[in-house]
Parts: sequence; C-alpha cells; structure tokens
Amino acid sequence: MAFYCLVSPGGSPGVTTSALGLALGWPGRVLLAECDPLGRRVLPGFMVDRMRGSAGSGLLGLAMAAEADPQATLVPDDHVMSIVDDGRVELLHGLGDPRHGARLRPVWRRLAEALATRDGDVIADLGQIGGADTPAELLMAADAVILVLKPTLVQVDAAKPRLDALREVVDERAAVGACLIADGAYTSAEVERALGVPVLVELPFSRADAQVLSDGARPRLTFRTSLLVRSLDALGRRVRAAVTESETVRTGIARPVSPATTEASQ
Ligand SMILES: Nc1ncnc2c1ncn2[C@@H]1O[C@H](COP(=O)(O)OP(=O)(O)O)[C@@H](O)[C@H]1O
Ligand SMILES: [Mg+2]
Repeated sequence: MAFYCLVSPGGSPGVTTSALGLALGWPGRVLLAECDPLGRRVLPGFMVDRMRGSAGSGLLGLAMAAEADPQATLVPDDHVMSIVDDGRVELLHGLGDPRHGARLRPVWRRLAEALATRDGDVIADLGQIGGADTPAELLMAADAVILVLKPTLVQVDAAKPRLDALREVVDERAAVGACLIADGAYTSAEVERALGVPVLVELPFSRADAQVLSDGARPRLTFRTSLLVRSLDALGRRVRAAVTESETVRTGIARPVSPATTEASQ
C-alpha cells in the first residue's frame, strides 16, 4: 500500500474536495481517511443522497477503540464505509464534533501503523497544517504529501513556513508537491519558484463541478468528462508515478506498474 496525505496552508482552498475526487478516480482499492481534526465534510456533503447502509463509526469510533485498549493493534476497516458500490473506495469519516479533536492525538501513531499493513492505498485529508493539532505522525508515515493551495500571495505566504516545517517532519524519500486550485494570479512556475516544490497539477476553479464533490450537488451531464475530474485523475497518475519512482530509487525494485502510472510516464 502507499500512503498519500493532502494538506493545506489554511483558507479552505479545496483539500477535502480534491482528496475525494482523487479517491473516486483511483484505479484500485483505496481508503479516503478524513483526518482533519477540525471535522468531517464528506458524510453531510457528497454522501448526503448516496447513503445506502451504515456509515460505520468513523474516526471517533477508531479513537474510542484505541482508548478502550491502549495496546491493541487498531483495525481501521472495522470503522469504514463504502462510498462506491463495488466497495473499491471506502471512507473513514472524520469527526462530527471538533471538540473531540484532542482525543485523536494519541491515535495518529497507531493509525499510521495500522494503515501501513492495509491492503490498498490510503488517501488522508489532514486539512490545514501548521497548528498544534497537525497529525505529524501521519505526515511522517506518508509516501507523498500534496499541498493544496490557490496561487495567491496570501496562500503562498502561508504555505512557505508550513512547507519548511513539513520538510522537517516527512521522510526524505516522500514525494512532496503542490496542487493548485486555479483561482489566483500566480502561474505554476511562479509558485514553484516561491515554494521550491513541483506543481503536480493545476485544477480548474470550477464551482459547479466542485460542489458535486463537496456538497453532493447534482452532477451536470458533463461532470464525468469535466476538466476538474480529468485534472484530478491526472494528479492521481502523477503522484502515483512519483511514489513508484522514489520507491524504485530507494529499493532498486520496481513496483508493478499500473496502466494509469504508465500513461503518466509517457
Ligand atoms: N477546484 C475547485 N473549484 C471551485 N471551487 C472549489 C474547488 N475545490 C473546492 N472548491 C470549493 O471550495 C469550498 C471549500 O472546499 P473544501 O474541499 O471543503 O476545502 P478545504 O477542505 O480546503 O477546507 C467548497 O465550497 C468547494 O465546493
Ligand atoms: Mg476540508
């Protein structure tokens, strides 16, 4: 399995929306873990008219299981729900009440260990990083960290120190890159120069399509072929390729290459 973390410098640029879109277009089994200590969005948003069965107990259930047995190995699969009919994409929904955020602090390390042995990839939405609540243990375990931001002075200014702090925490082999939500004046090249990380993709600022993911709005006929969905798929190909590449450099062993990854390297 590979572990991908999506983070932001604050200001709600679209981390959760992008993480969900990424998961929905993932080629294999994937878990979307809503680990933003400030709370959940997918259950009352995208899932609002899509619920079929139980939502699972989510991150709070996992925290309660951790509190009940401080030595036990956590089993995230006991707390997840399926968000795509064939069970390929699952959700560990985040906190409904951010007052429970403090209960998560002792959970992150154990969750990171449990996810490492999981069959399938994991995409974690960590929300805004840089505060005392940041789940550093998840960042340490990440194979790739994607900073989602808008190309504005305010966002780039907030991103700079957070990226510096991030570099001190993440494993040196982890791929770190930016995902721009194209609602700002700077170009990708300018953001790359300012932040010193590659821009993996520029997502269009597309309110109607984004609201399908963030709020469960009714998709337009063109949603599946929209630039937003295609760009999110391109982000997935690039970030999977970056992880495969760093793993090959590290171990000298190439991972079996998925068709999606091959396409990205052409
Ligand atoms: N690519 C995009 N284009 C336009 N609006 C977007 C895009 N991504 C997200 N949004 C909108 O931005 C708002 C915040 O999104 P959300 O994903 O919850 O942000 P965050 O997780 O960073 O706080 C939502 O209204 C969502 O529809
Ligand atoms: Mg969010």
